[in-house]
Amino acid sequence: MSLRLGDEAPNFTADTTDGKIDFHEWKAGSWAVFFSHPADFTPVCTTELGRTAALKDAFAERNAKIIALSVDSIDDHRGWAPDIGEVTGSELNFPIIADPDRTVSELYDMIHPGEGDTSTVRSVFVIDPDNKIKMMLTYPKSTGRNFDEILRVIDSLQLTAGYEVSTPVDWNKGERVIASPAMSTEDARERFANVEEVKPYLRYVDDPSA
Ligand code: BEZ
Repeated sequence: MSLRLGDEAPNFTADTTDGKIDFHEWKAGSWAVFFSHPADFTPVCTTELGRTAALKDAFAERNAKIIALSVDSIDDHRGWAPDIGEVTGSELNFPIIADPDRTVSELYDMIHPGEGDTSTVRSVFVIDPDNKIKMMLTYPKSTGRNFDEILRVIDSLQLTAGYEVSTPVDWNKGERVIASPAMSTEDARERFANVEEVKPYLRYVDDPSA
């Protein structure tokens, strides 16, 4: 069965570069960014994992832990890890799951047969502290992801979980947001600062968390 937003992120146990983990225990109380890459010792994946390692503090500031997966073995992950530091300047600082029997990849539908072989495509799941899936994206093997975008989505998810607002196109943390369409402009004026009614359904307001 395919996973949908709001579903519980399936639990699993797996071998990782940091030892065996139970996924839900590993992420307990945190947000998690769980992402797959096609293969070790490949160019785009090397750049992606280095960039993610460089952003570790930014994820930690958001109470988000990072974990990667490919269908390669632990020995391959450990053999490849030094290349990530050498090439990108950022040493691997989060676990990579080894999934040679594809159990976890299949649980999360990370293998897309139309994409050439039985390795994982570039999937990302953002999972909240209650283990609910809050965001999913899937990129083809040939296209590296933008991990600043993952941070931006986490900022939006965390803000919109606490306030009746949405975030507009290309929004970044600290910028103005949009009052819920379910709320009247009068209510919005009582609850938020600096309300600008562009249309009755489009009301910009200051970030209420600021
Ligand atoms: C890469 O990481 O460069 C890559 C991996 C698998 C297929 C295509 C590109």
